[in-house]
Formats: sequence, structure tokens, C-alpha cells
Amino acid sequence: MKRTARARSRRAAPAGLRELTELARVARLQAFAPFSRFKVGAALRTRAGEVVTGCNIESASYGLTMCAERVAIFKAVSEGLREFDAIAVVADSPRPTAPCGACRQVMWELVGDVWVHIVNLHGRNRTLRMSELLPLPFDARNL
Ligand code: THU
Repeated sequence: MKRTARARSRRAAPAGLRELTELARVARLQAFAPFSRFKVGAALRTRAGEVVTGCNIESASYGLTMCAERVAIFKAVSEGLREFDAIAVVADSPRPTAPCGACRQVMWELVGDVWVHIVNLHGRNRTLRMSELLPLPFDARNL
């Protein structure tokens, strides 16, 4: 049977998402968000089980603000990590916060079609595949 994104999304999510979420929750405490006061934490896991975390870091220019997801991804890639299987994102919002468009593009290109686990501080959560968050992506195959 041809595996579609839908079929893949029904695959069982990887183990350890609770632990990954806990690391994202702790990373969120380091957020530098004096302008929005909206703190976000992310924890990115490699296929080998290493975890790299990130938090959002804001700038008075606003536009130079960096999201938690991209901080974690750039930290990981800068340390030579290339193969990932999941990312957890934690924020204090009524519904779990999904990554912004810029992060989705970077996640697709550098992290791939991984599980994305989004959670709020009250434990509401959703787990999606990256390909569900960014259908019909632009990437190196288009060049
Ligand atoms: N933010 C993230 O870090 N990740 C997201 O998924 C959504 C937004 C940050 C950027 C900014 O510092 C604050 O949240 C408000 O947009």
C-alpha cells in the first residue's frame, strides 16, 4: 500500500514524549520574553536519543526575535546533530501552541518529517507529523 502522509500520521507516536515534554517545560523557564511575556520551550530529540533544548529569545527590534523551536534546532545542527525523531513544544496558551510558519519551514528542512508534540501548561496536547503541519513544502528538491 502506498504510504500517504495520512497513513504515516496514524503510526504510533514514539515513546518518551512525556519526558521530552518535561525537558521543554524546563527549557521554557529560561525564555527571554520581556516584550510579549509569552514564554515557549522546545526540546528536540535525535534518533540516537540525545535531546537539545531551546527557549524563545526576544529583541527590542521585535523582528529579530527567535522562537524556541529554531533556537533548539540551530543549537543541535551547530553541534553536528542531523537525524531527529521528535520535537516537543510547551507554552502557556489555552490551546497547545503550534509552531509559526518560519519555524515550520526550518523544521522541515533541517529536522525532517518528525513527530511534533505540542503541549500547554495544563497538559492539553496534540501530536502531529511535520508533514501535516507543512503540506506541499518548498525545499531543496525544488531547486
Ligand atoms: N514563539 C515561539 O517561541 N514559538 C512558537 O511556536 C510561537 C511563538 C515566540 C516568539 C515570541 O517570542 C513569542 O513567542 C510571541 O510570539
